[in-house]
Amino acid sequence: MAYRGIFAALFVFLYSVPESLGMSALAHQPTVLVTGSNRGIGLEFVRQYAAKEWRVIATTRRPNQARALQALARSQTNVTVELLDVTNGDHLDALVEKYRGQPIDVLINNAGVSGDFQGPGQSLGTLDYTTVDTFMSVNAIGPLRVTEAFYENVKLSDQKKVIAITALLGVHSFKYGGFSGAYWYKVSKAAMNAAVFNLAQDAIKDGITVALLTPGEVAVEKVVDPGPNFIAPEVSIRGMIDVIEGLSSEDSGAIIRYNGKRYAF
Ligand SMILES: NC(=O)c1ccc[n+]([C@@H]2O[C@H](COP(=O)([O-])OP(=O)(O)OC[C@H]3O[C@@H](n4cnc5c(N)ncnc54)[C@H](OP(=O)(O)O)[C@@H]3O)[C@@H](O)[C@H]2O)c1
Repeated sequence: MAYRGIFAALFVFLYSVPESLGMSALAHQPTVLVTGSNRGIGLEFVRQYAAKEWRVIATTRRPNQARALQALARSQTNVTVELLDVTNGDHLDALVEKYRGQPIDVLINNAGVSGDFQGPGQSLGTLDYTTVDTFMSVNAIGPLRVTEAFYENVKLSDQKKVIAITALLGVHSFKYGGFSGAYWYKVSKAAMNAAVFNLAQDAIKDGITVALLTPGEVAVEKVVDPGPNFIAPEVSIRGMIDVIEGLSSEDSGAIIRYNGKRYAF
């Protein structure tokens, strides 16, 4: 009887005291890795996962210039800033080596380039063929490359989820309200979708769920004059985190909007 009382007290201590101290001695702390996390949607993912007490690996191609991200990492012990240009094999090799054997529950391929949608370079008659390779290597191949690099880390984790942030413009651009221009953005996001569908098929055998998320039109820092359809980053990212939490293996290869709406191809 006395033993039972001691065990009960120990149980209460282990569960309630660490929780009240903001620690989780028994609960496993999940890990998320975010690419392009120094601004915009990526930075908001870092903020929200950090607030949920996840371990956050926040990657950026310019850590020294990532002031907001570095400030966040100084105020939160669960955020680590890492160097990663998603087109750079040396950066990837170094990070893979550093995190070898460590689980990554959610891998968020967020880094992307958009350029000036309506400006010269992406409009018919002015298409700039010297920039298309950058769009393709960052937007289309980047998510595949990063996912291949951290595949074993995701496989080791409890949640096993890979996310790629796509855009409606790349999902069905042909009927997107007559929106012209943005050729390289649309082409590269459509190619990313194709790569991610393939990845989803391959990864399912390892219990990894791969999904494409569309964030809505998000009023990130670079948007100077957001129109009435724009939503705040807090809203978009809160919605996408809810979607990620609800993903199951049946969602592999799905395209899901931040508000949970699903798209069929
Ligand atoms: N905002 C929207 O309404 C919207 C809508 C649909 C889809 N999306 C998608 O959501 C993602 C984030 O968009 P956002 O609005 O937050 O854009 P953003 O403010 O332009 O941020 C893009 C991020 O990607 C990073 N990046 C660019 N090239 C990179 C590279 N080679 N390696 C690593 N990081 C790189 C940027 O880093 P630097 O600061 O170093 O350039 C920045 O952190 C993108 O994939 C975008 O296509 C956005």
